[in-house]
Amino acid sequence: MQPGKQCYRVDLIAAARPNFMKVAPVFHALSHEPWCRLRLVHTGQHYDASMSEAFFKDLELPEPDVHLGVGSGSHAEQTAQVMLAYERSCVADRPDLIVVVGDVNSTLACALVGAKLHIPVAHLEAGLRSGDREMPEEINRLVTDAVADILWTPSPDADENLAREGIAADKITRVGNIMIDSYELMRTRIQASPVQRQLGIEKKAYGVVTLHRPTNVDYPEILQQLVEQLMNISGKLPLVFPVHPRTRKNLVTTGLLKRLSEAPGMQLIEPLGYVDFMNLVCSARLIITDSGGVQEETTYLGIPCLTLRNTTERPITVSQGTNRLVTAQGLIEAVSGVLSSKVSRGQKPALWDGRTATRVVEDIKRRLGLSQPKHAALG
Ligand code: UD1
Ligand code: UDP
Repeated sequence: MQPGKQCYRVDLIAAARPNFMKVAPVFHALSHEPWCRLRLVHTGQHYDASMSEAFFKDLELPEPDVHLGVGSGSHAEQTAQVMLAYERSCVADRPDLIVVVGDVNSTLACALVGAKLHIPVAHLEAGLRSGDREMPEEINRLVTDAVADILWTPSPDADENLAREGIAADKITRVGNIMIDSYELMRTRIQASPVQRQLGIEKKAYGVVTLHRPTNVDYPEILQQLVEQLMNISGKLPLVFPVHPRTRKNLVTTGLLKRLSEAPGMQLIEPLGYVDFMNLVCSARLIITDSGGVQEETTYLGIPCLTLRNTTERPITVSQGTNRLVTAQGLIEAVSGVLSSKVSRGQKPALWDGRTATRVVEDIKRRLGLSQPKHAALG
């Protein structure tokens, strides 16, 4: 991508639920830039209305310009299908810059396509590492960061990880946490959501559960253990559990869905749209999760978060925020601890301020020589 042109074509890649709230603020910020011809690409990794369309509506995103329609599959199938379809799209209509976000299979696939076609790739949410290569996302993060030309990081730990992996410092810009931009953009609508009334729950008198990591939901014994714990907890604190499609499938196969849905205090519901989900999080007494994004949102909002994982790629949510890693065996005790004590609201990490998309746009312009002072070019 050569500086000096009038107009640059930027592809923004969206694929799965956690991508949409990272793409939306960048989309809205770039759509005001006269030098930018933006193309919103949806790979189709998530496709249920509740996992995709609902977010386009909530986050005020237009219909994607390109829909690759890839759908589900094994890791190799899904990654390869995205690569095949996106390569065709890039060859037919070559962008000057590809922006990928997060750590899903489509993130990796589109980054590889860009690298092989010599199209500069920027990775938003670069540098996060759990250290656990059994997580498919960790492989996606490592490879995406290895081939990306621009690495936009959320926190100092991410910068340190990239430096340790030998990524040149001039490729890295710390821009902060893009998830927070979506929250701030939607704050008024989030506060106005009627979802608590619809579910018949009261502020600070319920917990929210989300689970979808293969390590928690793909092994019947582990899933059963978690179900037992959640049934016990919902007897003390009403729980709302929007069930991810992977988890629903496994609860059905193992015959656990009926038992769990009939437990006193437990509300199993369909996955929620962004506005309703964030409204529930804001007023929850605590969250039980294995989500990446929810660890960050709860840190920003000062809500206690119990994360059912051995590691986190977001350690700042533990060191500064309200997040705590817990095991399935330790969950009940951890919940009792939160309910019986005054918990700290933690600290908001630096640059988690709702201005990350602005910093992303500034960084692109700086690299293109579109702003003063002029610095290195892209690619
Ligand atoms: C994916 C991401 C994960 C992310 C999660 C967020 C990878 C490797 N995984 O996991 O990092 O945390 O999204 O939610 O990229 N399904 C549906 N409808 C849909 C989507 C999926 O029914 O709209 C079902 C299908 O049976 C599918 C399964 O869920 O096989 C898993 O979907 P997939 O996108 O492969 O992985 P996730 O578990 O959603
Ligand atoms: N989310 C939502 N509705 C739900 C569950 C999650 O809107 O029912 C949002 C929430 O903002 C969360 C984001 O989706 O941060 C990311 O989703 P997920 O947990 O699926 O992915 P991860 O962050 O683990 O990759």
